[in-house]
Amino acid sequence: MGMGFHEMKKLLKRSGVHSPTLMEEQRWLVRQVRMAAVKIPSGTIVECGTMNGNTVILMANCLKTVKENRPKRDIASEIISIDNYSDQRKHDTLSSFDENVAMVKEFGFDDVLTLIEGDDIEFLGSLDDHSVSLLWVDSCQSETHVYQTLQVGLPKMMRNSLVCGHDYIFGNMGVPYALDDFYKDKSEYITSPHVYLRNWWFMVREVE
Ligand SMILES: C[S@@+](CC[C@H](N)C(=O)[O-])C[C@H]1O[C@@H](n2cnc3c(N)ncnc32)[C@H](O)[C@@H]1O
Repeated sequence: MGMGFHEMKKLLKRSGVHSPTLMEEQRWLVRQVRMAAVKIPSGTIVECGTMNGNTVILMANCLKTVKENRPKRDIASEIISIDNYSDQRKHDTLSSFDENVAMVKEFGFDDVLTLIEGDDIEFLGSLDDHSVSLLWVDSCQSETHVYQTLQVGLPKMMRNSLVCGHDYIFGNMGVPYALDDFYKDKSEYITSPHVYLRNWWFMVREVE
């Protein structure tokens, strides 16, 4: 059974699952999940970088709630989150794949959320073209990795779908360099001056 955002957040905290991602950022993302979930035809929502599952559990809670509230619509959207569990710098917050799988089961979200252990770019490459309704890029911040994520990920996006990513300003600068390199025309993606979203970049994939 899906819960409210704050209730879920408290439950995660009590379970010891914390995240450096701000609550306001997560709430914004959850709103995007709500919109992506009801797209017709249904698509796949992808998170690159599961870490300890904190954000994706909130996303799954949202999708579950949307599905429960619209049983007649038979919403087929699903969430897939992928991590290669390699980030040694984040060893204090990175859970193992097995721990994350157990948490998803415990919360009862395994019908809406699938976790994958592996490289996100390889995974994106395996998806059907025009099948992703929301892509949230939050894994390796290197310029090459982000550039390749866009290269491989964009053809997978549905019409009018959202691609967004983290660590635009608080990071090693790989993210903005990759975006500026990929989009020679810088107006193709946007950032936000809003205090809670200034570390993000976004783009709407208007055409397939
Ligand atoms: C910033 S954390 C993700 C935070 C998470 N999305 C959240 O909101 O709490 C980045 C994660 O990306 C993972 N990662 C790094 N390189 C990766 C790759 N090539 N493929 C998949 N995951 C990767 C790391 O293991 C790490 O857990």
